[in-house]
Amino acid sequence: MSSYSSSNGRFRSRLSRKKWGAPVVAGGALGLILLVTVVSKVFWGGGDTDLDLPPPRKTGTQHDLPDPSQPHYPGAGSSTTLSAVDELFERQSQTLEQAAARYRLKTDRNPPRGYDKWFEYAREKRCLVDDYDQIYRDFAPFYQLADKRESEKNAEKFFPQMVKAVGALIHEENIGMRTFTMQEHRLGTADEWTSNYDELWNTTLTQLGPSLPDFKLIINHRDEPRIAFDVRALSPEVAFKPEDKAPFRNAPKPTSKFYTDDGHCLVPNDPRGFLTWANGASSFLLYSASADFTTDLYPVLSQSKIYPCFSDILFPSPFHYKRSSSHPKYSKPDNVGWAKKRSVLYWRGQSTGGWIYGENYRSFPRFRLIDIAREPKNAGLMDVAITAFYTWFCQLEGCDGEKISKEYNITGENAPREEVYNYKYVLDVDGNAFSGRYLGLLASGSLVFKSTLFTEYFHDWLQPFEHYIPVRPDLSDLAERVRWAKAHDEEARRIQKAGKEFVDRVMTDAQNDCYFYLVLLEWARLHAGGH
Ligand SMILES: *[C@@H]1O[C@H](CO)[C@@H](O)[C@H](O)[C@H]1NC(C)=O
Ligand SMILES: *[C@@H]1O[C@H](CO)[C@@H](O)[C@H](O)[C@H]1NC(C)=O
Repeated sequence: MSSYSSSNGRFRSRLSRKKWGAPVVAGGALGLILLVTVVSKVFWGGGDTDLDLPPPRKTGTQHDLPDPSQPHYPGAGSSTTLSAVDELFERQSQTLEQAAARYRLKTDRNPPRGYDKWFEYAREKRCLVDDYDQIYRDFAPFYQLADKRESEKNAEKFFPQMVKAVGALIHEENIGMRTFTMQEHRLGTADEWTSNYDELWNTTLTQLGPSLPDFKLIINHRDEPRIAFDVRALSPEVAFKPEDKAPFRNAPKPTSKFYTDDGHCLVPNDPRGFLTWANGASSFLLYSASADFTTDLYPVLSQSKIYPCFSDILFPSPFHYKRSSSHPKYSKPDNVGWAKKRSVLYWRGQSTGGWIYGENYRSFPRFRLIDIAREPKNAGLMDVAITAFYTWFCQLEGCDGEKISKEYNITGENAPREEVYNYKYVLDVDGNAFSGRYLGLLASGSLVFKSTLFTEYFHDWLQPFEHYIPVRPDLSDLAERVRWAKAHDEEARRIQKAGKEFVDRVMTDAQNDCYFYLVLLEWARLHAGGH
């Protein structure tokens, strides 16, 4: 019944666990074909491939012809007016050779072992084949270190060494992370902890098991990123000799000191930079609900991170799987036509964000949202409310929960998730970390306004102004953007439709599986000491 019960659940179970720190793709087809031809020559000529691929075709011209034996992607070639999603599917590699060549062009490496099976899987499941730049970026530092180490004789391999180290920590105590092992295609674990998402990960990994190489996987099951390591500062000394004396146990109180005062994570309030820092508007950076980070480059899979100060390896969150109980599902499809929706921005949610200390909550985005909506000049623009106050975060000295609840009119009244159908504009805004509702909101019939500091794995795919309206972390441009939408209804509708089409057709459970699967292949190669 409660529309936010899932985030409630994830949060509570986290608290109940033991220790809780007290309070592009390439464009021109012809150019690509030429490139592919050249690159695949290099590729096939190379001797150090760890990919078992069939020999290349005899003629180079076959690349530009659709292969009738391949599954037909939705909408592909069906009409002259292709949607952006049709075009996205159309430009995906049609053959393994083409996909491998594109992979190599982007990464300067051969695809990992098992890529041929992955390619078949991706085609069969109608997944994207080429657009995995986020994966390449996330693994790039580890590959660079692996390459560097390769030249040092007898040096212990960085990646497996770090997996071993963090695995030992997890074995000792509950640090909000889990291990999964794959051995001869059988799933296991090396720890005894549990997480809310075990069932989803267990099912997914078991299903993929027959195609997966051996590995030991480290998954951070908290929503917050954990690897507070900026790879732009990567130097061999730092990375090779872990220096963090309390990895995954760093929880400065408040966290703002570490991120802001000590300069470990200064994030501009606007992607174009130069205006102000967003640090003062992020509850996570101000006083994290859950910090427990490390300052060394451990390989860990996480659901979100803040660029560029975190180096977690991203993978799909359980909040993005329809088959997961965490998915923000609607009980019925949108039954309110666009013209009947109110031209008002709607938001409901809990007071999650971080530890309340002094007046800092006024800077947390969810409280800030209420303040902005109440400004006289914004009257009638927004219908927003905090539905529940998280008393857990109100334990530090001086926090008066009653006073805050009264001030922000937190009545405990919940609203069904389907309420969004009555509004043209909906907001997605950070809680303790990313909200988990984003894809759900995009799938509703409303236009999504998104304000976040967190990057999720689909960051490159869902584009600002094309699929959603971006809003600064401090929400200072929110009212202005809502006014724009009201004044440009057709444009607003176009963005809403594009966002919904993308989510309905691309962001499928199968696509999540394809992404996770490719992450696992990269992980397995590095874990086996490859580079
Ligand atoms: C996965 O689920 C199966 C069936 O419930 C269970 O027997 C197995 O122990 C689980 N594996 C892991 C690694 O959690
Ligand atoms: C407080 O919330 C109630 C219930 O949602 C609503 O009826 C009332 O108008 C709100 N008051 C203010 C001052 O926002």
